[in-house]
Amino acid sequence: MEGVRIGVLVSGGGTNLQAIIDACQEGDIKGRIVLVISNKKDAYAIERAAEGGIRSEFVSPSIFKGEDYDRRLMELFEEEGVQLVVLAGYLRVLSPLFIDGFRNRIINIHPSLIPKFCGKGFYGERVHSAVLESGDRETGATVHIVDEGTDTGPILLQEVVPVRKDDTVETLKKRVLQVEHRILVKALGDMCLKLGNENNGGNHEASID
Ligand code: GRF
Repeated sequence: MEGVRIGVLVSGGGTNLQAIIDACQEGDIKGRIVLVISNKKDAYAIERAAEGGIRSEFVSPSIFKGEDYDRRLMELFEEEGVQLVVLAGYLRVLSPLFIDGFRNRIINIHPSLIPKFCGKGFYGERVHSAVLESGDRETGATVHIVDEGTDTGPILLQEVVPVRKDDTVETLKKRVLQVEHRILVKALGDMCLKLGNENNGGNHEASID
């Protein structure tokens, strides 16, 4: 069985994408990445897709403006029959049009324990600097369903990461990133099982809606 058809949106290095590629290849995710789309032409994530034999597209923000950008994303995902979308280090805000088109079928990985250190302006290393400045003794990572807000959808999985006294942004980011990879793969695996069950007319109680 092919499993769930997954589309991934990226903007950067793609270590979360790589974790999903590896998990699909190892059979830990009952799904297949059919398309990777980046808003950055030089994102290393595109290289990772190519190495994994996965179709990738760069959609240029200078060609597709405003909502046309997300229309183009939807066109490409529909071309490949994408059933589940993963935001893996994707730095653009999705439009309500896109979110409506994939209602409850978009998941995001955020490098903090939502609702702490999330929302507008909290992404990448900015999250870890804010954690260190706050003096919090712990942080973590969160996988959540994407809704119209920023980092506000229902939480699927979280894992705590202790903050060490000698932590820098670099050391904390590295430790959180390892947890991101693990919980993203776990949450995606669970969703693919539920969706796969639904696709095969299984018990709809298991659906994520
Ligand atoms: C990282 O800051 C990660 O915390 C967040 O997106 C950034 C890039 O991740 N999810 P990746 O290596 O491109 O997956």
